[in-house]
Amino acid sequence: MRLTDGFGRVMGALRVSVTDRCDLVCSYCRPHGAPALDARGLVPSFEEITRLVRVFLRLGVTRVRLTGGEPLRRRGLAILVRALKTAGVPDLALTTNGTALAGQAAALARAGLDRLNVSLDSLDPARFAAITGVDALPRVLAGIEAARAAGLFPLRFNAVAMRGVNDDELCALARYAVSRGGAMRFIEFMPVGVAPAAWEHRYLPAAAILESLRPVLAPGVTGLPDGPGPARYLPLAGGGEVGIIAGVSRPFCGTCDRLRLSARGALRLCLASPLEVDLLAPLRAGAADDELGRIIRAAVRRKPTGASYTEARAGMSVIGG
Ligand code: 5AD
Repeated sequence: MRLTDGFGRVMGALRVSVTDRCDLVCSYCRPHGAPALDARGLVPSFEEITRLVRVFLRLGVTRVRLTGGEPLRRRGLAILVRALKTAGVPDLALTTNGTALAGQAAALARAGLDRLNVSLDSLDPARFAAITGVDALPRVLAGIEAARAAGLFPLRFNAVAMRGVNDDELCALARYAVSRGGAMRFIEFMPVGVAPAAWEHRYLPAAAILESLRPVLAPGVTGLPDGPGPARYLPLAGGGEVGIIAGVSRPFCGTCDRLRLSARGALRLCLASPLEVDLLAPLRAGAADDELGRIIRAAVRRKPTGASYTEARAGMSVIGG
């Protein structure tokens, strides 16, 4: 029996946050200054992650995405990638900020990584530094080229669209992504782990994102199309496409099939809800796979719908976006 929640939604995807560490300090994702969990032995080991993922695979999950913090800050990540592919994950993806990608892209590709998403909020070096706190744009762009050279396709890019921050370069970002053989996805700024006033000031709804993109869209695009998954794709005039992820103005709870394993080894049922169930403690206490499966099944029954982001409580660096 596949993993089904109380609303009949069947779970297919698991996002695994492998560390809460990150080398960037993005304005929309400020970790709260607590010492890194993995410095304190609180994050699951690669063996523990692989064991838990195997249980999720048996329950019907087919897509696994490694996130953070910054996943490439977890030493030897390619070893985990290989272990998860060996365990039989059909579709294994990674979301990275790209700063350490140049040195690791080839190893990740060899280890069997299927897909890659790179966060890229600006193509202007000074602005990139202002958003992320680090002057790292050249390194990120070099990482993207290394990923292409390693054959890591399809490539996707994420940008948090923010009013008065990068809303004047959405067209340039969309075009850049297509020039690199990928697609840009603009994410609505979510009020998770940021002060409500800072969020309100910067929030740019999907409708405004679409209007800003108008100059590069194919003629005849009217609004956001319906479709499966969080990103809605629009065709560009010169070929290629651009995505908009409208988690705030158009929540996609109805089709949500995602679960999250936090950097602490807890099963998180919804990005926007503090509800979570610890899996690491029972695993370390010797629970068998069947018992872990039962714990996961019971937890998923409680997966919420329509949760409000302002209740999330934990920051993105622990939940993994
Ligand atoms: N709102 C929207 N997107 C966010 N991300 C991190 N914090 C936020 C936020 N408050 C994005 C990152 C990354 C993805 C994992 O989540 O830019 O691309």
